[in-house]
Amino acid sequence: MSEQIILGAMFRALGAYPSGWRYPGAHNNPLGDAAVIRRTAKAAEAAKLDYIFFGDWLATGHDLEFRDPYLLARIDPLSAITYLAGVTKRIGLIATANTTYSDPYTLARATASVDLLSGGRAGLNLVTGAEPRAAGNHGRDAHWGNEHRYDRAEEFVDAVKLLWDSWEDDAFRRDRQGGVLIDPERLHRTDFVGEHVRVAGPLNVARPVQGHLPIVHAGTSVRSRQLVRDVADLALVAQPTLEDAVAFTADIKRQAASVGRDPSQLKVITPVLPIVAETTQAAWEIFDTLVSLVPLDDGSGLSQAPDFPKGRSIRALSQVVGIALGPRGLDDEIPAKVAARFSDVGQGLLERVAARTGRRVGSADRPVTYRHVLVTHVIPSSVVVGDAVSVADHFETWFASGAVDGFNVLTAFMGDQFSSFTTGVVPELVRRGLFRSEYEGRTLREHLGLSRPENLHVVAARAEAEAAARRSA
Ligand SMILES: Cc1cc2nc3c(=O)[nH]c(=O)nc-3n(C[C@H](O)[C@H](O)[C@H](O)COP(=O)(O)O)c2cc1C
Repeated sequence: MSEQIILGAMFRALGAYPSGWRYPGAHNNPLGDAAVIRRTAKAAEAAKLDYIFFGDWLATGHDLEFRDPYLLARIDPLSAITYLAGVTKRIGLIATANTTYSDPYTLARATASVDLLSGGRAGLNLVTGAEPRAAGNHGRDAHWGNEHRYDRAEEFVDAVKLLWDSWEDDAFRRDRQGGVLIDPERLHRTDFVGEHVRVAGPLNVARPVQGHLPIVHAGTSVRSRQLVRDVADLALVAQPTLEDAVAFTADIKRQAASVGRDPSQLKVITPVLPIVAETTQAAWEIFDTLVSLVPLDDGSGLSQAPDFPKGRSIRALSQVVGIALGPRGLDDEIPAKVAARFSDVGQGLLERVAARTGRRVGSADRPVTYRHVLVTHVIPSSVVVGDAVSVADHFETWFASGAVDGFNVLTAFMGDQFSSFTTGVVPELVRRGLFRSEYEGRTLREHLGLSRPENLHVVAARAEAEAAARRSA
């Protein structure tokens, strides 16, 4: 485990909670995203966070309005971090790219460039994509299956690393007198020929400051786990419970060691959505407001909207909890005798409601309504509600138990919620000795405690020379 928690800001301009954009005063206009991106990055940097992180999705449509509004319209991640390279100084800048649809040469070129522009602060989150509509946007008939996507992803990473290594660090001799700018032996072709990726190289950008940008991978399948084991510096993983996370992290680090990697060089991070206020009571009020703003089908005709998610109705809830609920108000309290008849799945859902909303069936001050159960069912996010101390407790528990090396911190809505985190929870973690109070390193790798990789062409040439020496001995 690392000695200090890794903390990144996972940026979603329209808010990470589906109703976040409806919260009073929240940012809700994609035309104004530039200012919010800049403000958030500066606040994250003032708190000395490791990085700001931009996810991606390669399509949009009306359905997303009710499901994941933050995916509807967003600034392209590489554009966002290139912009931030110029307006920030120390914070890491991570962009998501999709290996199924990107071109390795173009991506290696853009990412090497932003690493040089930012003084070594760029990182790359590689995903293979789960959105079928992306195919049509890239001239394909269909979104490939999991195996096909990861076959390409594996080759893609190898090719990009070789492209980044096209120039050795000291390839530029800059001999003014002799008129020699480069050392020709230190510029390497790539000549990568795989089944899915072919690229000649070399890359027309100098080697990135960090050698290789830190690679993040977020996925869920078996093949995704293999990619993490083999190449990821950071694994972005969402596990349902602390116990699952402890087991996962121990296992993936063991697997990394089994393929010859130093397990301390693979960091596991998890997304978390803290809702923070001065008091836990005030934080619950924010959360309750967000829950009340999630569009649900209460029979008033909202479900007539063409893309309204089918699972967001009392009828859908009946199926989940295993009893007929009939037509009743979404905001009615669930009577104890009705809750007692819920199926095992329904009982599990009530436990999740209690964990996430602090509400219990029959409670006088915080009872459970049908809305709470439905929202808990349809919104699968890891929410932590409380004052700065109790939210810091959650971070400390997960970190100290070995469940994770750090967190990608989501923000329910862009307004004052992010600063509640950076000026409340972060100083509390600093007080506990769990987070830095000043940046020590310059590059993202240094922030994360990752060593700088050697140039792969140099490593290969050395191995070849050693083998030749052995043969001639
Ligand atoms: C926490 C987390 C965040 C993710 N963020 C993205 C994202 O921004 N864009 C994306 O295309 N996929 C993202 N993914 C991955 C997809 O959900 C999906 O799993 C993947 O693209 C398909 O690979 P799989 O079949 O291995 O899951 C994320 C996954 C996790 C666990």
